[in-house]
Amino acid sequence: MVEKKWVVLGTGGTIAGVGQDELAHTSYTAGRLGVERLLSALPAAADWSGRLELEQLAQVDSKDMSAAVWAVLARAVARLLDRQDVQGIVITHGTDTLEETAFFLHTLLAPLKPVVLTCAMRPATALGADGPQNLLDALTVAAEPRARGVLVVCAGRVLGPLDAQKVHPYRLDALSAGDAGVIAYVEGGQVRQLRAWPEGRARRHLLERLDRPWPRVPVILGHALAQEWVVEALVSQGAQGLVLACPGNGSVHQDLLAALQSAQACGVRVVRTSRCPLGRMVGLSQEPLPFWSELSAVKARIALSLDLMEAQP
Ligand code: SIN
Repeated sequence: MVEKKWVVLGTGGTIAGVGQDELAHTSYTAGRLGVERLLSALPAAADWSGRLELEQLAQVDSKDMSAAVWAVLARAVARLLDRQDVQGIVITHGTDTLEETAFFLHTLLAPLKPVVLTCAMRPATALGADGPQNLLDALTVAAEPRARGVLVVCAGRVLGPLDAQKVHPYRLDALSAGDAGVIAYVEGGQVRQLRAWPEGRARRHLLERLDRPWPRVPVILGHALAQEWVVEALVSQGAQGLVLACPGNGSVHQDLLAALQSAQACGVRVVRTSRCPLGRMVGLSQEPLPFWSELSAVKARIALSLDLMEAQP
């Protein structure tokens, strides 16, 4: 019989952050501690003895997340998913761009095993650090026999890769699933599931393209007094795709529309999303510009980049 294993991958973040003293909640350096140190601060990890493998893939502040780290991470997760003995994977990550990494892994790998990203809002050295509990909760979710897909665990909540969004710069429950709601709660070491685990269609063939430069796909924020020169400047700098975060239900400022349509006519892929943090866009047509209702602007940026990568010869 194959012995079951779980793998914890370290990428950095506040969960691995070190501050000057135990009151330093906001002044610290993210990503300083290795994943081994994080596990050694978790007495309950002893219960996992012999069943955990640890790999340090990066030690970054996730605001600085790079294509290189994503390539290393995606390939590591793909390799581990293919191992018969690996039942689940936990990834420690900063909160700032965690929702983007979760969406990227979901889109690329759509795993049938749990791949659980977790984080912290207080550095490991803080009084009342939240990382150890989040890490333990993430291990609990990764060991849940029915769990599958890319999941985000923070403050006792399990969020899906399409919905998870950082909504607060300081509070411990900084990540929200908006009005889609959480998939599950982790309570006293038990997983209470409310919604289906995430599913998707994997695009594994893109793994081999991740060393190429990512297509240029900036996000434009729709706002009062918007001006077309922003679009023109981005197109002149080689933008291959543009994601517009519209102020409402797909609405486009009249002074942006012509520039966006002329970018589209020149072969630039333009996609509308909403900058509203809750809900979905409704009742729209794909004219004058296509829209992706399910995705926030940063996630649409990833989806559009992967589409463009796929279309490359
Ligand atoms: C980071 O995203 O790496 C720093 C902020 C955090 O983890 O909360």
